[in-house]
Amino acid sequence: MGAMNVQLRSATTPPADVEAVGRFVFESLEVAGDGGGFDRESLSRRGFSGKVGETAILDRDGHLEVLVGAGERDGASDGVETCLRHATAAFARAVSGCSRAALDLSGLSGVEGSRAAQLAAEAVAGATYRYQGYRSAQEPSALAEVTFVVAGPGSGDTERGLERGTAVGEAVALARDLGNMPAGDLTPSRMAEIAVEQAERAGLEATVFDEGRIAEERLGGLLAVARGSAEPPRLVVLRYDPEPGADLPTVALVGKGITFDSGGLSLKTGEGMMAMKSDMSGAAAVVAALTACRALGVRVRVAGFTPLTENMPGGRATKPGDVFVARNGKSIEVLNTDAEGRLVLSDGLSLAAEEGPDAIVDLATLTGACVVALGRKMAGVMGNDSRLVRAVLRAGRAAGEALWPLPLPDAYRSDIDSEVADMKNIGKPGNAGALVAGLLLKEFVGDRPWVHLDIAGPARAEEDAYDVRKGSTGFAVRTLCELLTRYEPIGAPADDHVGEELW
Ligand code: BES
Ligand code: MN
Ligand code: ZN
Repeated sequence: MGAMNVQLRSATTPPADVEAVGRFVFESLEVAGDGGGFDRESLSRRGFSGKVGETAILDRDGHLEVLVGAGERDGASDGVETCLRHATAAFARAVSGCSRAALDLSGLSGVEGSRAAQLAAEAVAGATYRYQGYRSAQEPSALAEVTFVVAGPGSGDTERGLERGTAVGEAVALARDLGNMPAGDLTPSRMAEIAVEQAERAGLEATVFDEGRIAEERLGGLLAVARGSAEPPRLVVLRYDPEPGADLPTVALVGKGITFDSGGLSLKTGEGMMAMKSDMSGAAAVVAALTACRALGVRVRVAGFTPLTENMPGGRATKPGDVFVARNGKSIEVLNTDAEGRLVLSDGLSLAAEEGPDAIVDLATLTGACVVALGRKMAGVMGNDSRLVRAVLRAGRAAGEALWPLPLPDAYRSDIDSEVADMKNIGKPGNAGALVAGLLLKEFVGDRPWVHLDIAGPARAEEDAYDVRKGSTGFAVRTLCELLTRYEPIGAPADDHVGEELW
């Protein structure tokens, strides 16, 4: 679980016995680093343009020379860090037939050395990821070792960057493994066991609520969803504390952990449930990001809450029209059992908010509506505090994960007014489904600064692209790692209107 396929090292020259050496070529056809003896004319004769993602492989006395397009030197259109991530991933794919390769990272401008090493490590980890699940014949052995060639001084910084990139890369691989695992194997109790194993390895405190404890704690939303399943629910609490007793800010993470979403009695179509083993991707991102905290030297306390259950149409299942009382005392009428993520999150958010954290971030494959709005390459971001929203957006940008802000208009709160309860779990069909779900979540965070990431689109990829592989993507793990690594207190809670500055 979460192991990387590839060893990463750094050196000031390529090791003599590598099978391939990669060099970045910019759109100016200038070759980074020592240049490898390539001139502009020979590159342009080959039709090489230097666009990001382009690769060309040449045989040269006993090894392969791999030219890797790195875009504009200043990264003008995409940003220099994104160019580096994409170019490195393209290199890793191009040399997937080799077991040992080197990539020249010297001569890059605009990215500091340890940061470049981190991003390159993350990109190689992502691009070489494979789910090692159930194939009787394993796919051809991937790249085993990559050496990053760096300019002489500062190699201690490079090593630190590689360590950070490896920690993040392993966390992303863990989240992908969990999201790719069949739901028949990754039951709520199995996912809780894996979370505990990973927590022990990563120096975290772990507590698992079983069904008895879940009932004692009055987690009505989690129980309402779990009723229809033969598998018992779990709720895992993970805690990271870098310095017990110190005065540090606290961030709470809450992840939707539906290990399979059939829709419940409001049953999905066959096609609609084909990818629903990944409906625990929010919880996976929470577990995975927490496992990276110690290696990253995160200086905030982090608490993770992951309600885990299947959503199934059993004989005891919640029926449309049923009402339950959530942990915070608010009642919810369930008119569509397929809107289950918000029900389990209600209790996860209540547990988080009760501890009075400085910030709450929840992650969930919550709505098809968000996929309609933003597609499969962007997550929607909502919240009750524009400073925290901005901090999360900045973290996403640094992590190379696309996030886009969406509003939570008070005017739509009446869409979830219920005839019989404090609220109902769906709004008007076809009307702002992602926002209405966010408005329901907002009822459970009290006065805490809170951000909600709807990752229904990017949690899975339909095709390989750069460091992303088809299947579960581990989306948001890198954003959380950036947010926690660079976290700065945002000050007193402000219930302002996100996006107000734009109109
Ligand atoms: N897990 C789904 C959302 C989803 C859809 C994730 C597609 C990934 C890809 C969620 O539980 C769901 O079923 N939402 C419903 C809500 C509706 C009934 C209000 C939806 O979006 O259709
Ligand atoms: Mn659902
Ligand atoms: Zn769901």
